[in-house]
Amino acid sequence: MTRRSIGIIVNGVTGRMGYWQHLVRSLLAIREAGGVPLADGTTIWPHLVLVGRSEPKLRQIAERHGLDDWTTDLTAALARDDVQVYFDAQVTQQREKAIRQAIDAGKHIYTEKPLAEDTEAALDLARAARAAGVRTGVVQDKLFLPGLRKLKRLLDGGFFGRVLSVRGEFGYWVFEGDWQPAQRPSWNYRAEDGGGIVVDMFPHWHYVLEELFGAVRSVSCVTATHVPRRVDESGRPYPATADDAAYGVFELEGGVIAQLNSSWCVRVHRDELVEFQVDGTEGSAVAGLRRCRVQHRAVTPKPVWNPDLPATEDFRAQWTDVPDNEEFDNGFKVQWEAFLRHVVAGEPFPWDFLAGARGVQLAELGLVSAREGRRVEVPELSL
Ligand SMILES: NC(=O)c1ccc[n+]([C@@H]2O[C@H](COP(=O)([O-])OP(=O)(O)OC[C@H]3O[C@@H](n4cnc5c(N)ncnc54)[C@H](O)[C@@H]3O)[C@@H](O)[C@H]2O)c1
Repeated sequence: MTRRSIGIIVNGVTGRMGYWQHLVRSLLAIREAGGVPLADGTTIWPHLVLVGRSEPKLRQIAERHGLDDWTTDLTAALARDDVQVYFDAQVTQQREKAIRQAIDAGKHIYTEKPLAEDTEAALDLARAARAAGVRTGVVQDKLFLPGLRKLKRLLDGGFFGRVLSVRGEFGYWVFEGDWQPAQRPSWNYRAEDGGGIVVDMFPHWHYVLEELFGAVRSVSCVTATHVPRRVDESGRPYPATADDAAYGVFELEGGVIAQLNSSWCVRVHRDELVEFQVDGTEGSAVAGLRRCRVQHRAVTPKPVWNPDLPATEDFRAQWTDVPDNEEFDNGFKVQWEAFLRHVVAGEPFPWDFLAGARGVQLAELGLVSAREGRRVEVPELSL
């Protein structure tokens, strides 16, 4: 068996996503499994070059995982001939500059979302990457969640008949940081540092809606900063300048209406941190991160509105679980494997910079809608 080593810069590896989802759960997990196998018997072996700002933090991570290739000098790492891929999980504001540098160095690029801070910048990166002939990818991890994979299976099998609507609830309570530390980095709550729930979540909603239900044609959005003051990692209070909740309505090509609430100021009374209810003429489904439950037209009960009587039916019990029927691996890892096969063997990978730019566009137009108090059309993007 031939092993083909591929050098990958992992920038932002000290961060939450860079460390847990990309280094530990994806790239190291791929190495533990022996690499990514290709159809011709070759195996892709990720050689990791950890990049970050803090030498002690990088050294500590490298030592913890038996790695020895790390640097705080991105320019030097990009100049190496044995590096083919640049990966970015830095804070969003640092991304555009670093990706541009990687394009100029002729590296293939994979990145966390959002690709850039505005649509023009994202499109510009997509154009520059195409001109340089490098392959690109943007993380779209939610597509690989078991709950959404089962939902996709239902859609592909025609379970719903005509899909009418999608209702999504995403969110949980993010602590303010005063009497209990916040469970998300404080930059998320400062607009001037690239924070905000629209910028964070709308790129996800874009690819979920587009891949499962149809292209997004318009957005209407109301945002709020429900918690105006928070306390940062070092115990200092700061004004929260970014939106921490977004209430969005999206009209999709084909007529589906999607309504998605995103909030860091909501306490969970759901089975999972995100849930989508899909209603169709023939049946309905509720999909979360892992579970997916259905109710078919033939077994739909007939509730009658009567507030004078207590509920007599256990509505949740009237749904049936969709079986897994396959093993679901970590979604970040599955997408990494697909990207590496794309780079090395030219296998298809639809989640490129143009797809990433469409996600940025939806966030940007969602904010325009909120600011101007109107429904905003989403024009098609092209390079
Ligand atoms: N796919 C997902 O589900 C998902 C979830 C959360 C975050 N993200 C994205 O991942 C990226 C990182 O988010 P995170 O939650 O891991 O953030 P984080 O604050 O935990 O990590 C940020 C990383 O960027 C580095 N960095 C570089 N320059 C910086 C600067 N000037 N200031 C601060 N940090 C700097 C930090 O050292 C750290 O390694 C963001 O772009 C975010 O949108 C994606």
